[in-house]
Amino acid sequence: MNRKKIISVVGARPNFMKVAPLHRAFQKYNDTIEHILVHTGQHYDFSMSDAFFKDLEMPQPSYFLGVGSGSHAEQTAKIMVEFEKVCKELKPDLVIVVGDVNSTIACSVTAVKLGIKVAHIEAGLRSFDRTMPEEINRIVTDSICNYCFVTEQSGVDNLNREGFDTNGIFFVGNTMIDSLYFALEHAKNSEKRNTLNLEPKEYVLATLHRPTNVDEPEKLYEYLKIFKHLSRYRKIIFPVHPRTRKNLKYFSLEKKVEEISGLILLEPLGYIDFISLMLDADFIMTDSGGIQEETTYLKIPCLTLRTTTERPVTIEQGTNVLVQPDENSIIQAVNDIIHKPRKVGTIPELWDGKASVRIAKIIVSFFN
Ligand code: UD1
Repeated sequence: MNRKKIISVVGARPNFMKVAPLHRAFQKYNDTIEHILVHTGQHYDFSMSDAFFKDLEMPQPSYFLGVGSGSHAEQTAKIMVEFEKVCKELKPDLVIVVGDVNSTIACSVTAVKLGIKVAHIEAGLRSFDRTMPEEINRIVTDSICNYCFVTEQSGVDNLNREGFDTNGIFFVGNTMIDSLYFALEHAKNSEKRNTLNLEPKEYVLATLHRPTNVDEPEKLYEYLKIFKHLSRYRKIIFPVHPRTRKNLKYFSLEKKVEEISGLILLEPLGYIDFISLMLDADFIMTDSGGIQEETTYLKIPCLTLRTTTERPVTIEQGTNVLVQPDENSIIQAVNDIIHKPRKVGTIPELWDGKASVRIAKIIVSFFN
């Protein structure tokens, strides 16, 4: 029998940890499955991409589309044009897309229109906020794909409500947590905290990159004022996303940053170093999607600076707290977390490090 060809698409930083364990899981089926990695090049800096391949021990992608940055339309269109060429050449039996980034929507639309089946990993999540580009990417991808692999019950409920064929919905757990399992072993050896001269719990780890939080000068300045307040109690370790870095410069806020003693800006960190800093942080402040899940699994308090989350299980069961992203609400939440007892969480169902093994098994069964 000819081996079945499966393409997994990666493009942006949060994709790499979702695909790496899946790639490992497919190795067991090497006789029947050829698993091919395609990198769109949505993220291209070493710190946003290559560092993750290294940390996750993922092989180099077979195809690198090199699309780079651009407006949403430009980026999505470029990915579609380049990915179509790969699909026509390889004629894959299945395309796997993960998460909610522009690479996800671009490759799922391209594949479906060529008559190729598509599986979406981390399907069904909804923030119900259509001003978020990721929400549009999630809705479109789920509405056209054939198989939905879901991380939490809310995803199943959303897909059912939207009329997705129930036979194509698989509640399998979270591949991001599979990677976290992998990283925990290695994180013990990270020297990052020592290099930064940090004691456990004396610092907060912060990340910010959502356009709504960093693309307006007043809003970004508000965050600096919040960091200034927080710096009275804790050091703040802030690995800065390229979008945020650019805007700090563009809005001439770099001087304000320097004035906050205890605020330590870093380049974006590799996966293992980031997890190691997370493990010893007193708490996390973020607007990321995936960090809400990682902190829930690790039972580390997390303030998510957004009006909504597409990952409600992290609020209902985990350590995540959603904080309205305005100065007063965040300062209140910071004061509460410093001075009051903290939320105690539990680990969501099937977040056991084996989601990728389950997914690979199900996908292989499609071809039997
Ligand atoms: C993307 C995802 C977001 C995800 C985030 C993680 C979409 C719609 N958004 O947002 O869901 O949480 O990745 O990081 O897909 N840039 C660099 N170097 C890079 C990558 C980007 O300098 O390696 C700059 C680009 O010039 C661009 C900006 O960062 O202007 C934003 O990059 P982009 O991929 O458009 O979106 P993100 O904000 O990273």
